[in-house]
Amino acid sequence: MTTNTPIALAPHGHDHHRPTHAAPSSTPPAGAHEIAPRHPLDMLTAEEVDVFRRVLAAAGLITDATRFSYVMLREASKADVLAYTAGDQLRREVSALLTDLSTQGVSTVVVDVVAKTVLEHVTIDPAVSGWGPSLDEDFPTADAIVKADPVWVAAMADRGVTDLATVRTVPLSAGVFDYPDEVGRRMVRVLAFREDYPGDSVWAHPIDGIVAHVDLSSGTVLRVINTGHLDIPAESGDYTDPAVSGPLRTDLSPIRITQPEGVSFTLDGNVLSWQNWSVRIGFNGREGVTLHQLSFDDKGRRRPIIYRASVSEMVVPYGDPSPTHAWQNYFDVGEYQFGRLSNSLELGCDCLGEITYLDAPTVDDHGVAHTITNAICIHEEDYGVLWKHNDAFSGKSETRRQRRIVISSFVTVGNYDYGFYWYLYLDGTIELEAKATGIVFTSGHPGGDYPYASELAPGLGAPYHQHLFSARLDMMVDGTNNHVDEIEARRVPTGPGNPWGNAIGRSVTRLTTEATSQRVAANHLGRVWSVGSSTTTNRMGEAPAYVLYPEGNATLAAADDSSTYRRATFASKHLWVTQYNRDELWAAGAIVNQHPGGAGLPAYVAGDRAVDGEDIVLWHTFGLTHFPRLEDWPVMPVDYAGFKMKPHAFFDRNPTLDVPATASGSAHCAAPNGDIVGGDAACHC
Ligand code: CO
Repeated sequence: MTTNTPIALAPHGHDHHRPTHAAPSSTPPAGAHEIAPRHPLDMLTAEEVDVFRRVLAAAGLITDATRFSYVMLREASKADVLAYTAGDQLRREVSALLTDLSTQGVSTVVVDVVAKTVLEHVTIDPAVSGWGPSLDEDFPTADAIVKADPVWVAAMADRGVTDLATVRTVPLSAGVFDYPDEVGRRMVRVLAFREDYPGDSVWAHPIDGIVAHVDLSSGTVLRVINTGHLDIPAESGDYTDPAVSGPLRTDLSPIRITQPEGVSFTLDGNVLSWQNWSVRIGFNGREGVTLHQLSFDDKGRRRPIIYRASVSEMVVPYGDPSPTHAWQNYFDVGEYQFGRLSNSLELGCDCLGEITYLDAPTVDDHGVAHTITNAICIHEEDYGVLWKHNDAFSGKSETRRQRRIVISSFVTVGNYDYGFYWYLYLDGTIELEAKATGIVFTSGHPGGDYPYASELAPGLGAPYHQHLFSARLDMMVDGTNNHVDEIEARRVPTGPGNPWGNAIGRSVTRLTTEATSQRVAANHLGRVWSVGSSTTTNRMGEAPAYVLYPEGNATLAAADDSSTYRRATFASKHLWVTQYNRDELWAAGAIVNQHPGGAGLPAYVAGDRAVDGEDIVLWHTFGLTHFPRLEDWPVMPVDYAGFKMKPHAFFDRNPTLDVPATASGSAHCAAPNGDIVGGDAACHC
C-alpha cells in the first residue's frame, strides 16, 4: 500500500495560501483510542473526529475560540483506493478549516487519525481567500449586533416596528462587492422580517428597504442602507393556519406501499447492492450524500461506471438590482455546508414504502461529532412500464415493469428545502433529481410592473432567482481512462446522397482538453455528452459509454463582469471536464465565503490539461431559473431539476431481458361490486 505525499487543502489558482510553518509533529495524545482498519471511503466516525480534535489540541493548534468548518474525510487517492484490499491499514486523513474568533486567524489542517499526526497546517489570509462558511452562532450574534445599533433600531421604528422581539433577523452571506472597509472582515448582510405571533411564517412580512452590513469580526454595523420602503406586507403566509389553508380535504384515501416478502436490496456496511448495481454510500457535512464506486454486474463481470458522484456546489443568485437585494447570492455548499443541514427523517418520513435508513456523521462548529439519525433514506419504487410489446405476428403480449432504487436526503437552508434523490434503474439508467421546496425568499414589492420580482400577495415580492447546482461526476466507465464525445443531430441538406432531404446526420466531436470541453447544452440539437471507455470495446467494436442527458435549462444569468459571475463561473457552462486530481472537489473553490472569485473550476482548468483518454471528471451544471408563481406561495410545491445518465453501447443488448413478468394487479383490488379483495387473480389491468 502506498501513501501519497500530502497536498495543501486548496492551493489552486486564485486561492492564495501563506504557509507559516511546516507540518508540525505532534505526540499522540494520551488516552486516544486506536483506529481500527476501515475501508478508505467509510464515513468518518465520532471516534475519528475525537482523535482529530485531540491531535490538534496536542499540537497547540486550537483554543476555546477555534471554530471548525468543512470537517471531512480527505479521501485517499483513487489509485490507493482501487489497490485497497480488506484489512489494509490505509492512512485516514481528516481535513478542516479552522477559524480563531479571537484573532480572526484562518487556517486549514489535515490530520492523520491513524498515526495521530498533523500532516498540514496552512494559514490563510482571509482578505485574499475569504472566510469559512456561516457558523451557527452567527445568527444570534448578528441579531444582537443589529438590535443594539441605534440607526437600525430607528429605521425599524420608522416602519412602525418598536417591539424588537417581533423582528426575526436573517444574517446572509455577504458576497464580495466594492466596499473597501469590508476587506478582511468577516461580514454578513442582515435582512429583517416581522413575526406577528409565535409560530407565524415570518417570510410573509419582510421589513424591506433596509439592510445592515454587519462586521462579525468587530461586532459592529459598518453601514445601514435605508431606501425608505415603508410598507410591511400584512397578509398571513402561515400555511398551517386553517384561516389560510381552508378546511382540509377529506377525500384522499390512503396509499400504502408494502413489500410482503421484504426488500430486494442488501446493505453490507455502507455498500448497497441491488439488481446488479453496487454502490458505496458516503456522506460528509459539506456535500451531504456522496456515491462511490458505482458499478454494474454484467453477467458476472463487475463493471465500474462512476468512481465518485456528489453535488459539489449550489449557488442561488438573486436578480433584484435594488440596493437592499443586489448582493444576494448564496453558495449553499461552500457557505452553508449542505450536509450539516440534512434533515433527520425521524422527524417525518419523506419516503413511502419499505424504508431503510442510514445515519449521517457531521461535526459542529466546535469540532464535536454529531450524528444526524436517519438522514439517508433507501427504498425501492415501482416505476411503471419497463418494456412492452403486443406482436401481431407472433401473438405474444409481453410487459415488464420498471423499478428503481432511491437513495435520498433532504436539507434545509434557511427558507428553502432541497431534496437530493439518486435513482438507479433496472436498465442501467442513473438519475439525480434535486427537489426544491420550502418558502421563496421574499421582499417588499414596489407595485406596478417592477421587472425583477413577482408580486405574490399585496406588497409582497419574490425576487427572480436561479438555483444552479454543480454535480461532480468522477467517471470510471470500464476503467480510469475515459473520453467525452459531444453528440448531436446534424441536418443534412438535400442534394447528392440525400435526394429527398430526409437524412438525419449524427455529429460526434471529441472533447480533447479542459479548455475546449467547456460546453453549453443545445436541446434543439439533441446535444448530449458521451463518456466512453478508452481501453475497452463492446461486441460491435465500439467504446462502451455512458451518456449524460442534460435538461439544458438556463446557465448563470448574472452579467459577465459581475461579482456573482466571477465567484460562480462554474454555472456559466453546463459542462466542464477536468483531469482527476484528488483535491479538486469544489466547483466554486475550496473556500467560498467572501472569496473574490476565480477559484474552483476556472482555476482547475487553467493548465488546460488533456482529457482524451485520461482519468477524467465531469462537472455538470443543472438547475432552475425561478420566476416565482402565485402558486409557489405561501409554501412552494416541489420543483425539479436534475439529469440522467444512460448506458449507450455499454451493454451488448437490452440488459433487462431477464426481468420476469410480474403478476398483474396488486394484492388488493376493488372487485366490480366495490369490495376490496385480495389475490392477483382478482385484478386485471
Ligand atoms: Co426558487
